[in-house]
Amino acid sequence: MITKPKGTYDVLGANARNYNYVEEVVKTFANLYNYDYIRTPIFESRELFHRGVGETTDIVTKETYDFQDKKGRDLTLRPEGTAGVVRSYIENKLYGSNDLTKLYYFGTMYRYERPQAGRNREFTQFGMEVLGSNDPSVDAEIISLPVRIFEALGIKNLKVKINSLGDKESRENYSKALTSYLEPHLKDLCSDCEARFKKNPLRILDCKVDGENEVIKNAPKVIDYLNEESKERFNKVLSYLDELDIDYEVDANVVRGLDYYDHTVFEIVCDIKELGTGNVLAGGGRYNSLVKNLDGPEVPAMGFACGLERVLFTIDTLELKCADERSLDVFILYVNDEEKRHAMYLTQELRLNGFSAEMDYLEKSLKNQFKEADKYNAKYLIILNSEDLKEGMLELKDNLTKEKKKVKEINLIDELDGNL
Ligand code: HAM
Repeated sequence: MITKPKGTYDVLGANARNYNYVEEVVKTFANLYNYDYIRTPIFESRELFHRGVGETTDIVTKETYDFQDKKGRDLTLRPEGTAGVVRSYIENKLYGSNDLTKLYYFGTMYRYERPQAGRNREFTQFGMEVLGSNDPSVDAEIISLPVRIFEALGIKNLKVKINSLGDKESRENYSKALTSYLEPHLKDLCSDCEARFKKNPLRILDCKVDGENEVIKNAPKVIDYLNEESKERFNKVLSYLDELDIDYEVDANVVRGLDYYDHTVFEIVCDIKELGTGNVLAGGGRYNSLVKNLDGPEVPAMGFACGLERVLFTIDTLELKCADERSLDVFILYVNDEEKRHAMYLTQELRLNGFSAEMDYLEKSLKNQFKEADKYNAKYLIILNSEDLKEGMLELKDNLTKEKKKVKEINLIDELDGNL
């Protein structure tokens, strides 16, 4: 038997219904908050992620699915959505209007990680990005959005952890302090961290191996190295979050595993033990240099992305009521060939008039057709009968009250409209 590749999964049954439901909720919020939909390719040039996400990040050094096409082009399955959105923003000159650009996306992402609860190799993210403003009010809106979406889905137990990496000057000062602190401890860290030390010491802070190491736990914190301007900016973000009534916790350990961030970074954690280390439902931050780094103009930006599977797992674990059980408006039953032909016609007619309708395609006995109608939770049954058809009549049964009545076929749509 051919099985699915490790780290991938099928979306079926109730999970599939919840998947669509979450997508609908996200779309609703995107509309309410005035974000436009964008779809970018699943694979992009490898260089985009090296320059965008960062040469020293785990995502790029260890986790990308890289391949060459038949012409030898170096391509990568996208590990995240932001770099592609920024590439598209630049390529399509969306900055031309000099205005704010608010975009949202859905899509599968690919990271070669060790699969576990909430951590897959193929996973789906939805994300929202605002390009064109450095105003702290944008940071607050972006942080509030996933919170409000999770609340709408009924997810509680949420914690917003927020931190600031400051501007370039603050990060340079911090980087110096971190380097002098780490140097004498290098022998206590893993070999990857030794390499990170030379290239980008900040990445040592999100090492998956050394995460619990006392050396890292006691390392200086970036928030203590913010210059006055960065501090002031961060305080403004916090005060705007207060304005939007968003609870948060300033957490100096949130540094994020991607290189493009400056100033605000945040993660939204759901405290349920079943999720283990995969309990970060969403994360994001400000990336004021990314557009420039990818050869675009100097355009500040801020965004977040959320792992859909983690949200679905949370919904499942907390047994939240999301999508309704599947149900049909009408199921049409028949016995002979003439009735079957009419069933086909009528099923299509109902569907085209906006009613979900189904019939039997396996030539089942009438008894089994009734069972099938129940399986689909059909609200109404139409039991066809050649004699009725000759007179333009149908037998309509309310499947809940079991009440039956004869209706004229030409009045069927009005009859159903009045009751459904
Ligand atoms: P990220 O933190 O790498 O950020 O991923 C965002 C979310 O994607 C995580 O919080 C998690 O819910 C989900 N996720 C990540 N890896 C996996 C995985 N292997 N399996 C399942 N879910 C996963 C970004 O990707 C940034 N692009 C976010 C951003 C947008 N920053 C600014 N704009």
